[in-house]
Amino acid sequence: MAGSGCWIGSRKKAFEVKVQILGIETSCDETGIALYDTERGLRAHTLHSQIALHAAYGGVVPELASRDHVRRIVPLIEAVMREAGTTLDAIDGVAYTQGPGLAGALLVGASVASALAMALDKPLVGVHHLEGHLLSPLLSEDKPSFPFVALLVSGGHSQLFFVRGVGQYELLGDTLDDAAGEAFDKAAQLLGLPYPGGPALAQLARDGRAGVVRLPRPLIDAPHFHFSFSGLKTAVLTLVRQLQHEGRFNDQARADVALEFETAVVDVLAAKAFKALRQTHNKRLVVAGGVGANQSLRARFVKEAAALGVRVYFPEMAFCTDNGAMIALVGALRITEGVRDYAFHVRPRWPLSELTAVVEKGVGDACCGSTT
Ligand code: KG4
Ligand code: ZN
Repeated sequence: MAGSGCWIGSRKKAFEVKVQILGIETSCDETGIALYDTERGLRAHTLHSQIALHAAYGGVVPELASRDHVRRIVPLIEAVMREAGTTLDAIDGVAYTQGPGLAGALLVGASVASALAMALDKPLVGVHHLEGHLLSPLLSEDKPSFPFVALLVSGGHSQLFFVRGVGQYELLGDTLDDAAGEAFDKAAQLLGLPYPGGPALAQLARDGRAGVVRLPRPLIDAPHFHFSFSGLKTAVLTLVRQLQHEGRFNDQARADVALEFETAVVDVLAAKAFKALRQTHNKRLVVAGGVGANQSLRARFVKEAAALGVRVYFPEMAFCTDNGAMIALVGALRITEGVRDYAFHVRPRWPLSELTAVVEKGVGDACCGSTT
C-alpha cells in the first residue's frame, strides 16, 4: 500500500478538511476499490483483475466485464472497509469513475456509488479516469509539485499534458490512431502472445537481441507532440510475414522483434516527453498509465532524466494500471473543493480538456514542496 501520503505538514496544506473518500473504479476489466484519507493517506485498496475471464477471447468482452463488476463490487467494498478497520458510516463521500471507458462497466460503478452516496447521505463525485492516472504519482511519498509535464500512456491514450494544477491540463500532444498500449497489445497478438499483450511482450523482449531487426520510430522528429503507432503495428505485421516467409520466425526472432518494437515505442515516447520538458522549461516529468509499468521505459526515462537534470515521477507499480486508489484520491481533491455531482450518468467518451480547474487553497503548490 502507498505510505502515509498525507499532505499535511508540507509547505502548504493541500487539504483544509479531513475527509475519507471511497473510490470505485470499473471503467474496463478491473474492479478497483480504495479508501483515501486526506490526513492519513491511503487506508486500504483492493483490485480484482478480469484477465482470466477475457483471456480465452484475446481481449476484453464488454458484456462479460460488466457482469463481473456486478459480482465483485460489493464484496470488494466490504473487504476494503474491513482492511481499513472502519465502516461505511465513517466515510465522507464516494468517488467513482464516470468515464471514459466501457459504458456497461462504468454504469456498474456509477450505480453502486450513487446508491451508496444516497443511502449514506454523503457527497458523490464522478471522476475522469485519465485524471486519476495523471495524478496517481501524488499517492506516493515522494510526489511531484505542480506544474509538471505528464506523459499519459494507457490502452486507449498516448498524450502529453502540461499540468498546472488539479483540473488544469493543457493538451500538448494527442493520440492520432492506435495508442501506445493498444500498439503493445496488437504487436503482442502478431507475435502469438496471450492477452494482455503489453506485459507479455515486455517479458519476451528480455530475450531479444538489440539491432537484429529494425522498425520505424513514427513521428519521432515531427515538429508537434502527437503520437501515431498504427504504422508501427503494420511494420511489425510486415516483418513477421517476411520472417515467416523466410522460415526464420522462431522463438529468438520473436524475441528480437519484441525488443525492437518495445525500443521503438520507448524511443518515440522519450523523444517527445523530453522535448516537451525543454519547450515548457519544466524540470518535472510524470509518466502515468499502464504502459508506464514497462521496466525498459522506466529505466530509459530515469537515465535520460538524470542526464538532463530532470526528475521523473512514476506511480507505484500497483497504481500504474487501473486502480481504485487514484479515483479515491481525485475524489478527495474535488470533494474537499466543494465539487458535487449527483447526476447519474456515465461518459464513455470524455475529453480531459473539458474538466473544470480546482484552483482554491494552493492545492497546486502543496505536493512535497519540491522545486526541482
Ligand atoms: O492504464 P491501463 O491499465 O488501462 C487503460 O486505462 O487503458 O493500461 C492498460 C495498457 C494495456 O494496453 C497494457 O498492454 C499496457 O497498458 N501495459 C503495458 C505493460 N503493462 C500494461 N505495456 C507495456 N509494458 C508493460 N509492462
Ligand atoms: Zn486506465
